[in-house]
Amino acid sequence: MKKIGVLTSGGDAPGMNAAIRAVVRTGLSKGMEVMGIYRGYNGLINGDVKNLSVRSVSDVIQHGGTMLYTARCKEFRFEEGLQKAKKTCLEQGIEGIVVIGGDGSFRGAADLSARGIPCVGIPGTIDNDISMSEYTIGYDTAMNTAMDLVDKLRDTSQSHDRCSVVEVMGRNAGYIAVNTGIACGATCVIVPEVPWTIEAVCDKIKRTRETGKHHFIVVVSEGVGNAAEIAKDIEHYTGVESRATILGHVQRGGSPTIRDRVAASQLGYYAVQLLYSGKGNRVVGIQNNKIVDYDIQEALSMKKPFESELYKIADEISF
Ligand code: F6P
Repeated sequence: MKKIGVLTSGGDAPGMNAAIRAVVRTGLSKGMEVMGIYRGYNGLINGDVKNLSVRSVSDVIQHGGTMLYTARCKEFRFEEGLQKAKKTCLEQGIEGIVVIGGDGSFRGAADLSARGIPCVGIPGTIDNDISMSEYTIGYDTAMNTAMDLVDKLRDTSQSHDRCSVVEVMGRNAGYIAVNTGIACGATCVIVPEVPWTIEAVCDKIKRTRETGKHHFIVVVSEGVGNAAEIAKDIEHYTGVESRATILGHVQRGGSPTIRDRVAASQLGYYAVQLLYSGKGNRVVGIQNNKIVDYDIQEALSMKKPFESELYKIADEISF
C-alpha cells in the first residue's frame, strides 16, 4: 500500500491522538502517505480528508479528545453511504484505513472492507467493552478521572454524613463502575452484569452504619440507570440523607495516562503493520500483554467475561 487513511469514530477517548500519531508516524516511516479523515465516516462520505505530515501529529500525544474529530455516522449504515465512501477512497488513492473506535465503528470497517477497501480497527473507547481485547484506549484515563471525582465527593459526603450515589459511564458494561468502586472504597457497586435489589443495597448500608460508619459511596453504572431514583430510595429506606451525582462526559476528557499513551502507540503501530502487509478486515487488541489481531466478524461475535472476582472483592472488603 502506498496511501492509507486514519479516522476516529464513535465517542472520543483519551489516547486517540496518541493512536493517530502512531499510525501517521508508522505509515510515514514505511514510505506510505497518510491521510487524516475528519469526523469519522462522515469525512469519507464528504471527501473531508487531508494529508498528514510528520509534524501534523507533533504535540498531540498528551492531549485528550481527537484532532480528527469524531462522530457516529448514520449514513454509513446504508449502501449509498458506503459507496460514497468507497468513491472517496478511489479518488484519493486511499488503499487502506485504520479505524479507531468501538464495536459500531468496527461494523462499518467490516462493511467497507467487504467493498474492497481493507480496514483495520483499533479499540478506542472508555467503556472497555470490546470483547477481543482486554484493554481499550481511554479506559485507564476515564477510570482515573472517575476515581478523582469520587474522592472529592467522599469529602463532602463525609462532612455531611451522607450517602453519595455516583453514576459512572460504561454504556451497558460495568467495568468502569466496578474498578472505580473498588478504588474508592464504595459500600456498594451496582452494574448491569450482576442482579441487584434496592433492599440488598439498603441492608448493606444499614449493616455498615451499625459498625460506626456514617457516610457512604454507592457507584452505579449508567447501564443500570437512574441514580436519582436509587438515591431517593436509599434515603427513604435507610434514613441516610442521599445525593445523586452523574459524572457524565467529564470522564471522556483530559490528558491520557501513560497506560493509554503506550497502548495507543502499540496498537497504532500494529494496525499499520497489518495494512502494510496487505491484511484488512482485522481488529488489533491486547491479550495477556501481547498485541493480537482478529477477523472483524470473529471479534464482534466474541463475549467478554465480566470481572466477577473483582466485583466480589469490592463487595466483601467495603463495609
Ligand atoms: O462509549 C463511550 C460513551 O461515553 C458511553 O460510556 C456512553 O454511554 C456514551 O458514550 C455517551 O455517548 P454520547 O457522547 O453520544 O452522549
